[in-house]
Amino acid sequence: MNHFLMCEPKFFEVRYVINPWMEGNLGRVDRELAQRQWENLHGIVARLASVSLIETVAGLPDMTFTANAGLVHVGEDGKKQCIVSSFRHAERQPEARFFETFFSAHGYRVQHLAPDTIFEGAGDALFDSQGRLWVGSGIRSDSHALGEIIDVLRVEAMGLELINPHWYHLDTAFCPLPQGQALAYDKAFSRKSVEILKHAFGENIIWVSEQDARNFACNAINIGQRIILHRASPELKSALAQRGFEVIEADVSEFLKAGGACKCLTLEI
Ligand code: ARG
Repeated sequence: MNHFLMCEPKFFEVRYVINPWMEGNLGRVDRELAQRQWENLHGIVARLASVSLIETVAGLPDMTFTANAGLVHVGEDGKKQCIVSSFRHAERQPEARFFETFFSAHGYRVQHLAPDTIFEGAGDALFDSQGRLWVGSGIRSDSHALGEIIDVLRVEAMGLELINPHWYHLDTAFCPLPQGQALAYDKAFSRKSVEILKHAFGENIIWVSEQDARNFACNAINIGQRIILHRASPELKSALAQRGFEVIEADVSEFLKAGGACKCLTLEI
């Protein structure tokens, strides 16, 4: 059974601007609506998987985006490791020690990259169905994080270069799916990275429209044949249905104001 880590948005708000979605949204989050949207998402995920919660901390409004807690890897021997994040922006840096405490208390071997390497966890590192790790860099995580991750986890990993500030984390523009499939938004990536994705996934990648990308359709939670996302166009829904996926929409409009959606609000552990 899949297992996710979530964090209640008790202190969630847009209090600073560290990505373009947050611009113009300072103080504009409807907290009660955010809480209801999160509870709805939590309910959907909890019906399909198990969910653990980490205690939310006052003064850390983005802590609800647990995708950025770290990169979790469970080896073939069952050994659980977590490379904890080292955030680019001072506003999020204090989150790291709370996530680290959670992982060490839950039996994970906690790993760190080099002291000055920026790496924002599962926001920028996603395993595909073949066990290959895709690591995004260029906006948040450093490109040299890739080599360090390979050294720590001993997995096959490929780098992708993000070039568009609106799609600042890999999980805003790329979502690996079962059976070698994936969703992606091409304008988020350098030309070379688009070629790498085309080469690796061929016909099995669905390139989403700008409108779907703006609705964070790539920021999707995948549980078996189900895909949980904020919103998808009829075209995208039918493309996914043809491939045997069921789309579940969970409105997370308040979280879009901070530049995050469904997948960012969870971390598979
Ligand atoms: N406001 C947060 C930030 O800019 C949103 C994080 C969204 N997380 C993600 N994995 N894409 O860091």
